[in-house]
Amino acid sequence: MMKIDEILSTLTLEEKVSLLFGKGMWDIAGVRDIPEVTMVDGPHGVRKPLDMDKTGVFEGNNPATAFPILGALASTWNVDLAYEVGEALADECHYYDVHVLLAPGVNIKRTPLGGRNFEYFSEDPILTGEIASAYISGLQENGVGTSLKHYAANNSEFERMTISSEVDERTLREIYLRAFEIAIKKANPWLVMTSYNKINGYRSEENPFLMKEMLRNEWSYDGVTVSDWGAVTDRAKALETSLDIEMPGPSLSKQKQLVQQIRNHEIDEALVDASVKRILEFVQKASEGKKKAKDRCDFEQNHLVAKQVAVEGTVLLKNDRNVLPIKKEKTKSLLVIGRHAIDPRISGKGGSAMVTPYKLDIPLDKMKEIAGNDITIHYVDGYDDFNSEQNEMKQQEAIALAKQVDNVIVFAGIPEELEEAEGFDKEVTDLPQSQINLILSVVKEQPNTTVVLSNGSPVTMNEWVDEVPALVEGWFAGQAAGSAIADILFGFANPSGKLSETFPERISHNPAHLTYPGENGKVHYHEGVFVGYRYYDKKEIQPLFPFGHGLSYTEFTYDSIHVNKEAIQDDETVEVTVTVRNSGAMAGMEVIQLYVHDQESSVIRPLKELKKFKKVHLNPGEAKQITFTLSKQDFAFYDVLSQGWQVETGSFDLFIGRSVADIRLTKTIHITATEEKKPVFTRKSLTKEWLADKNGKKIITDFFDQLSDELNMEDEYTLSFLKECPISAVISLFGQKWMETNDAEAKVDQLIAQVNQLNEETSKGGC
Ligand code: BGC
Repeated sequence: MMKIDEILSTLTLEEKVSLLFGKGMWDIAGVRDIPEVTMVDGPHGVRKPLDMDKTGVFEGNNPATAFPILGALASTWNVDLAYEVGEALADECHYYDVHVLLAPGVNIKRTPLGGRNFEYFSEDPILTGEIASAYISGLQENGVGTSLKHYAANNSEFERMTISSEVDERTLREIYLRAFEIAIKKANPWLVMTSYNKINGYRSEENPFLMKEMLRNEWSYDGVTVSDWGAVTDRAKALETSLDIEMPGPSLSKQKQLVQQIRNHEIDEALVDASVKRILEFVQKASEGKKKAKDRCDFEQNHLVAKQVAVEGTVLLKNDRNVLPIKKEKTKSLLVIGRHAIDPRISGKGGSAMVTPYKLDIPLDKMKEIAGNDITIHYVDGYDDFNSEQNEMKQQEAIALAKQVDNVIVFAGIPEELEEAEGFDKEVTDLPQSQINLILSVVKEQPNTTVVLSNGSPVTMNEWVDEVPALVEGWFAGQAAGSAIADILFGFANPSGKLSETFPERISHNPAHLTYPGENGKVHYHEGVFVGYRYYDKKEIQPLFPFGHGLSYTEFTYDSIHVNKEAIQDDETVEVTVTVRNSGAMAGMEVIQLYVHDQESSVIRPLKELKKFKKVHLNPGEAKQITFTLSKQDFAFYDVLSQGWQVETGSFDLFIGRSVADIRLTKTIHITATEEKKPVFTRKSLTKEWLADKNGKKIITDFFDQLSDELNMEDEYTLSFLKECPISAVISLFGQKWMETNDAEAKVDQLIAQVNQLNEETSKGGC
């Protein structure tokens, strides 16, 4: 056990400052007896460079289990499985002597064009926060730290190191910070990594609102903060907002400068001490964590975990005429088309997410294993995305064969050359034209055609989706993608993935479209809280496939919904019990999704907000009851006026759905706010606000009576005319005569003082 205060008191200033920087590309600490700590990327596997002095960003990493991308993990909607992934990652970190995995990223997917979307979970903060928390706990409970990243509002790669994300406070708190908050409160990551971008004009690591107000004060986070690699521009400023470690290091000239600034009393040494203390506590945790290492790391077992995620994250988007699963008894021959079947894309590219797979399941091989001698499987490339002559030839070959077989499976997707990668955004969301043409020609010849997609974020499919009867979203599903998809296609596994993000019909429908990617160094998040499904729902734009959508080979019936109380106070909880039945013939898993809708609100709110979800396994005929407990936070919005989470008295709908667009059960409950928003009247208060307040109504009605005989407050139209005006404007419009003998300004002030005083007395229990 390190004696932290003792160590701190014996370190020289130079030594303390050195702890605030990396020791190298991937290590920190290692001063005197303080052990070194090694941190490597995540999130999809342990990416430990062969040469630890190098970044390994482009190649040269040790082999490790390549798990499906986080978007696929989120599409499992399975928190237990996310925990298992964390556990498996912890084993491999121990194996490679790594103390911290630089993961997971919980940035919200604002636009499908975001280059790193595949590294993030979802467009929804609750789904993101819950899955991320389980992933973090899986690692940390097994002795390996995590670094929650990229804090915050890092939602695209365009000008990623300089752009400022301009986001209003309510949107930040309800959408972009929410997943960080959930993960910090539920799983307490050892580190939080700041982002490259600015937020509302401040660099993230220098941002007082993010670093001090939110992280350290409101969320009481006492772990270590670390910069994104190469992000820090002003070490002193970042120290003031409590950035503990700058990575990579050692950045000797910066260290010297900081020492000098402290000696000159430009920076308080106490800030250094506070950071060093947190770093020493973290080093201690990291060393202790090593005791949890198992005797051996079972890569084969981890491969199975990766496969299970690939199976459960795969989303069956369409299955007309039950084309899937392939029925062995009815199928003699099968044609597999597309290079993704023999050379699968297991992840997006670049930087953090590129793992050298420990082993690789090839989809075609795995399909052949299942087919055995019963089904003949042919394979052709079918398309060439970059050579039109070759493409033509390959396409003809595929069409000719498609006619002769019972079933065709087209493996389509984003080619490696058109990257989804760290460092830059995507330019298109369509499949290459070569693939579109191929799909359209083949499906004409062979009605039993399935398309399996391989991509990191939504593709648009207007040109061809209606023609294809069966469609599977396979994502970049890691090293076991091949065996997972083979099991799904042949019905050895029943698909249970649900989309963790909306697939829009066109990219122009995306809520961020008008302001993405930003200009003049800023990107304005004008869509506010209406991110992803919150937007499509409210705008009544039917997306191609909605958030939460995913089919199964079996049927689920939603039998009933009950609440334990029809009316609650907002400081009470309510239990919602739902009964779901597998009414089909095959065992399967279903994700029960609970969305909340506030029927009436003083602020503009989404029509549905995901609050709870649960994945359950059901055998044919089996029914299960699932109970969700909802509390204040699930009904609240962030009120910028009162600077707090607010629930307003009224009715709330609880929707139980198979997706956000497929609601099966509804229940309405009434909630009474224990702390009603107390209106504070000002010169800006509108007549409607005066009328909505008991004391205000009396005061304003009496006054308007004296002001002019034109103002008949019983009359509907008069009321409607007045309601949007402040009192000063009403006086100026209707009180010119009255003003001959009265002082308008003084009167307005007097009325405001009167109502505020009365309200104050009422709230103290007066009458
Ligand atoms: C990425 C981080 C990553 C770090 C270390 C940065 O470029 O944004 O996600 O953890 O590099 O590789």
